[in-house]
Amino acid sequence: MANNSRSITDAQQGIHENLLVVVQKHLDWPYRKPISKHTQDAFNRLNQQISTRLKDRPLILDSCCGTAMSTRLLAAQHPDALVIGIDRSAARLGKEYNTELPDNAYIIQAECGDFWRLVHLAGWRLQKHKLFYPNPYPKAKHLKRRWHAHPAFPALLALGGEIELRSNWDVYVKEFCTALHYATGSGGKGAEVEILTAEKAMTLFEKKYAQAGQALYRCKFEL
Ligand SMILES: C[S@@+](CC[C@H](N)C(=O)[O-])C[C@H]1O[C@@H](n2cnc3c(N)ncnc32)[C@H](O)[C@@H]1O
Repeated sequence: MANNSRSITDAQQGIHENLLVVVQKHLDWPYRKPISKHTQDAFNRLNQQISTRLKDRPLILDSCCGTAMSTRLLAAQHPDALVIGIDRSAARLGKEYNTELPDNAYIIQAECGDFWRLVHLAGWRLQKHKLFYPNPYPKAKHLKRRWHAHPAFPALLALGGEIELRSNWDVYVKEFCTALHYATGSGGKGAEVEILTAEKAMTLFEKKYAQAGQALYRCKFEL
């Protein structure tokens, strides 16, 4: 499992045979699950805080940000943008750092699928969308928990921007690229699986995997 620094070994091998059927189903049928109250409330509070700042600044989402190390780094790298880190785990978001949260960074406890739908309904457009090391759910029967096979995938596509997904499980990244090509009709161009070469770690999971000598993969795609 990718929640520790061991490689994923007991996992589905290769792209899931039902991937495109599941993606097509989500493209055809709207996601009807009601938005959870806590995510709606969190979104409303954020909207009040940032609506005036949003008018003239690019927006970056850092979905599944965990302890929000990447949210802080992204905010420092893009001082002109507003960067929103989202995670459902209060425990992860509660990690304390020695420095203040940058003025252009916001951290939200919310469910990403619901949050993306609310961002879409509000008409916000993204400059960048980061998905660093989402839970891989490597068992074949858990395909639909992966973001590209989740009913919220069309909402993620609708937000636009340059999407970047990173994982230590190559199959996740291959499936994500395949789903992007399929859903956007890009004919196999654009989203490629890249090996992530030595960069400064953006997240705690990335640091842990890199220190354990694991290969890291990413997919970048302009929506
Ligand atoms: C493997 S951790 C990676 C965290 C961070 N990106 C990193 O690389 O250190 C995956 C994170 O996704 C969050 N997560 C999983 N499903 C989520 C969901 N539906 N909505 C929001 N956060 C979610 C978990 O709480 C966890 O913090």
